[in-house]
Amino acid sequence: MFIISGPELVIAQCKAGMVGSFPALNARPQSLLDEWLHRITEELAAHNRDHPNRPAAPFAVNQIVHKSNDRLEADLETCAKWQVPIVITSLGAREDLNTAVHGWGGITLHDVIDDRFAHKAIEKGADGLIAVATGAGGHAGKLSPFAIIQEIRQWFDGPLALSGSIATGGAILAAEAMGADFAYIGSPFIATEEANAVDGYKQGIVEGRAGDIVYSNLFTGVHGNYLRASIEAAGLDPDNLPEGDLSTMNFGGGNGSKAKAWRDIWGSGQGIGVVDRVESVADRVDRLEREYLAAKERLRI
Ligand SMILES: Cc1cc2nc3c(=O)[nH]c(=O)nc-3n(C[C@H](O)[C@H](O)[C@H](O)COP(=O)(O)O)c2cc1C
Repeated sequence: MFIISGPELVIAQCKAGMVGSFPALNARPQSLLDEWLHRITEELAAHNRDHPNRPAAPFAVNQIVHKSNDRLEADLETCAKWQVPIVITSLGAREDLNTAVHGWGGITLHDVIDDRFAHKAIEKGADGLIAVATGAGGHAGKLSPFAIIQEIRQWFDGPLALSGSIATGGAILAAEAMGADFAYIGSPFIATEEANAVDGYKQGIVEGRAGDIVYSNLFTGVHGNYLRASIEAAGLDPDNLPEGDLSTMNFGGGNGSKAKAWRDIWGSGQGIGVVDRVESVADRVDRLEREYLAAKERLRI
């Protein structure tokens, strides 16, 4: 997640057994990416030496593949140096990028909001897909998770993750039952000790419910989901937001108000109603696991 996800969060997630990921753009200046990847690689290797029976999950780096991202080539070179195991691509599918990642033995997963983009991504050589359904944090899609997974599974049997409001172990099991291989979870991890977010933001996730989420394209030019209270705090009326404009998309700039998207206008998916405290990543992952196993038990599967 933009701004939120850094080495602390990613390392804690991987140690807890889930794939942790962060956007390369979070490491600023660009040279910091090398330090982050060094630290993540070393700390996970040390964990694996100390816990051979409970090794860390692999980590992922997200690349924004859009002309507004002038760091892409430099970031890719740094990912190549550290042989990043999973590269998540958003907002653009590029064959040469997939080939480069395969060159060092990594795999690519591409974010898609509908079946048409899913076809394009696979045609360009992505290994797997992340279906971003309605209700997801960040740049969410508009489709029902059922609709998008059903359509993609008609023709694609490779790795498929589902994203959008998944916040309980039962919801993870539901994603699997629908045909996804992985649940892709963002917003609940904002309310963790390791997330790079101010306390007010973490508290907003704890207090917020689905009805507090506003879907707007004002802040980045692309539709996304945001916490109502942060829009109000910026002096804007969440129920009467003007339309945004693609030409102003800049991931971290912001438009239409002095508030900066992501820093002041807080992104969140609709699933946060069940997030009732700020806790450590390890505790949140334990809770998800317990709920997942209980849901299986309930269904006798
Ligand atoms: C604050 C915030 C920032 C995000 N930034 C990014 C990003 O930079 N790149 C990206 O691919 N997805 C980003 N996402 C989307 C997440 O990767 C994921 O799809 C989403 O959080 C899943 O939905 P959920 O939040 O309802 O769990 C962001 C989400 C949030 C909440």
